[in-house]
Amino acid sequence: MPRDARDALRAWFLGPRAENADLMERLITESFRDHVFWRRNFRPEDGVTIQEVDRRQEGYEAANATLTQELMSLLAQLKRDVPFFSGRYQGHMVCEPTIAAQVGYFAAMLYNPNNVTREAGPVTTRLEFEVMEQLARMIGFDPATTWGHLTSGGTVANFEALWIARSLFYLPVAAAMAARAGAPEVSVQRPDGATVPLASMGLYELLNLRGPAALDAWDALRQAVPRTAWPDVIDRHTLAHAGYQEYTRRLARHWGDPLPDSVVLVAATAHYSWEKIVRALGIGAEQLCFVPVDRYCRIDPDALWERIEQLHARRTPILACISVCGSTEEGAVDRLDRVLEVRARAEEQLGVTFHLHADACYGGYAAAVARRPDGSHRTSAEIRASTQINWPSDDWVKSIVSLGWFDSVTIDPHKLGYAPYPAGAMLLRDRRARDLVAVEPPYLAPPGGGAHDTSFMGQFILEGSKPGAAAAAVWLGQKVLPLDERGYGYLIERTVVGAHRLYDAIMTADLSPFRAVMLPRPDLNIACFVVTHPSLSGITTLNRLNEEVFRQMSLGENGQVPDYMITRTRLTHPNYDGAVPALLPGLGLSGTEEWKACREGLVVLRSTVMDPFLAGDVGGTDHVVGYVAALRRACATAMNNVISA
Ligand SMILES: Cc1ncc(COP(=O)(O)O)c(C=O)c1O
Repeated sequence: MPRDARDALRAWFLGPRAENADLMERLITESFRDHVFWRRNFRPEDGVTIQEVDRRQEGYEAANATLTQELMSLLAQLKRDVPFFSGRYQGHMVCEPTIAAQVGYFAAMLYNPNNVTREAGPVTTRLEFEVMEQLARMIGFDPATTWGHLTSGGTVANFEALWIARSLFYLPVAAAMAARAGAPEVSVQRPDGATVPLASMGLYELLNLRGPAALDAWDALRQAVPRTAWPDVIDRHTLAHAGYQEYTRRLARHWGDPLPDSVVLVAATAHYSWEKIVRALGIGAEQLCFVPVDRYCRIDPDALWERIEQLHARRTPILACISVCGSTEEGAVDRLDRVLEVRARAEEQLGVTFHLHADACYGGYAAAVARRPDGSHRTSAEIRASTQINWPSDDWVKSIVSLGWFDSVTIDPHKLGYAPYPAGAMLLRDRRARDLVAVEPPYLAPPGGGAHDTSFMGQFILEGSKPGAAAAAVWLGQKVLPLDERGYGYLIERTVVGAHRLYDAIMTADLSPFRAVMLPRPDLNIACFVVTHPSLSGITTLNRLNEEVFRQMSLGENGQVPDYMITRTRLTHPNYDGAVPALLPGLGLSGTEEWKACREGLVVLRSTVMDPFLAGDVGGTDHVVGYVAALRRACATAMNNVISA
């Protein structure tokens, strides 16, 4: 364990008892005072707008009194919020942000910059680019060819990734239509390496080109046409321009086929935002095709291969495949290396390809665990020497270092980046693809830069106005906690150690007559389990017991705070066919039929360990011990409630 990081960890957070209050107060006061000096020194010749005499008027006093009074009311209400800072909260993936990120946010918020364009946030847009460069390096993207920016969260980041993937997917079709309408002929490289003229290709072939090859062809087309002619000669053939209905008519005219169904493959553990996204993009929820997961809740690469073969047999193109690095419910990290292998095999053997996206909204920052300060990779043995537990495996490291080969990756600073909301991030491996969704309003181009100035972020992104303060928060966070083993790597390591400690404690606890049946050991920091009792039979009763335990260990409707807080999820058929059957014998449930027939699935209790102090080696209450005692009590009360219901 790096000694410096161990000590630094104690300075990174305000602390469960606000132990670092003096530090944070000093930094916030400093930020505020500095801002005041800035205002006072900015054009002093402008004079004083709010005069001292104004501040003594009745109306002023009344306004002041209202503000103070209402603030007190707000502060009182906030006491009913969730104590995410406490080791007693082990529920959702919500964290206490670092002091750095909170102070960074506060300091920049006073300036209220808008990162939609450099013109409205000259400092914080620069910080945003720096932050994205650091994240790109951490996951193995080359910052020189990457594009990335902050979003309001993972949902929007994922939306953009698929929006861009869809634009890229239809790009060869657009180029071929342009060529058929008289634009210069361009050639493209197929997945098998052959270079062929676009206009000679069938629709299915056009929808099976690698993103970079499609972009090369697009670039060649644009170079062959004067810029002023792009809208008429090229752009009008894009889906973005024509819309789905008109596009399908045009495709039928050109290829005799309407727009073929195209599917989005997702790991069955995918976050529910994916369904929103395919609905919003007009792709349709029916085209979201879930790939089963294995016993560890990771996408099953063999099932993925089978799905691709089946789709190919029906000549259904694949718009994108989404793999998960840190699933929402279990923190499972897909074997990203094996997913890449499956795509390579599909290209080689079937001529099928697709955009590969890693939803690393939750787990992305864990890439810092595998980085040394010089940027090289740590080995799994090296990391295990630091964690002193049997984590991570060689395969985990192989997976996390494979992020750099994905076409797009989303990572949320407001999750394992310990930044305040809102802060998600989207990264594209080949930055040229961002142009496919670009829109250029005349009023937002910065002076001197022209509409194509890349610091005018608003043109490439879904959102418009966006908080520069969020960029400052992430920037200061990443300055204080580097994206390697000294900073985020160490912090995340500690949370994983804490989750494993909790996992072991629940697994070995004497809860008799109850028993905890554990899901597999977590890939990250989420411990999942189901409690059972010998007298209970049937999945519905078992679910009732676990729902009751969850209720006992949740904030009450009137704000009552239990001793410990956890959360729960439901594992349903068919998405969890690979994972649930292994749990059933331990739960006394024979066969899978009952579970499959149960619409609510299997209720599973979960604890996300965002708290780095749960790993032990700190003063104060040992919350692992407290958690287990609270679980024992909750089981007993829950059982009484189930029986008496
Ligand atoms: C894996 C994953 N992707 C996407 C999201 C969506 O993120 P957000 O809630 O920031 O929109 C989440 C949220 O929990 C997630 O866990």
